[in-house]
Amino acid sequence: MVTIATYADRYFGGVDRLWREAFPDDAPRNTAAIAIPQKRQFQPELFLVAIEEDEVIGSLMAGYDGHRGWISRVAVRQVHRRRGIARAMFEEVERRLAKLDCPKINLQVVTSNAAVVPFYERLGYLVEPRISMSKMLPKGDAPTPPGR
Ligand SMILES: CC(C)(COP(=O)(O)OP(=O)(O)OC[C@H]1O[C@@H](n2cnc3c(N)ncnc32)[C@H](O)[C@@H]1OP(=O)(O)O)[C@@H](O)C(=O)NCCC(=O)NCCS
Repeated sequence: MVTIATYADRYFGGVDRLWREAFPDDAPRNTAAIAIPQKRQFQPELFLVAIEEDEVIGSLMAGYDGHRGWISRVAVRQVHRRRGIARAMFEEVERRLAKLDCPKINLQVVTSNAAVVPFYERLGYLVEPRISMSKMLPKGDAPTPPGR
């Protein structure tokens, strides 16, 4: 049976393994060793994992800034894809964001991963005409190519 749970420290190794598989080109600042302790400081209840037989098979991070909800780190272990695991994590995080009165959820897809857009569309997300911009603050790591 698959359970959607709030992330806990015992899942660190499983999430690390999942992210290495799902995001092989990740920037150093997105690795589990850096991103997870940071997320634990802010709305930790919006960091979800999918667990089956004690194994981490999916992850999803979200945050609500008081205006918009944001979703990232959506991943499912390769051998468990197309079983509705990501959909189950979305249903749970949308429930949690709705409870916070979050009116709208945004997410970004790097252009090199545009093939994933139909997946998000199946979950009800629309492509909007936006240009995504960002800026590293002094605590961020060395600049990496845009979109990372
Ligand atoms: C994208 C990803 C999270 C999907 O996880 P999943 O558990 O296989 O997704 P689900 O089984 O819950 O699928 C939900 C719906 O999307 C559809 N879907 C899933 N993957 C799809 C894809 N690659 N293209 C088109 N549709 C897709 C499913 O058929 C399902 O539709 P339905 O329920 O209406 O029949 C997984 O493929 C993954 O980890 N990819 C690598 C990491 C990644 O690219 N993450 C996104 C970063 S922006």
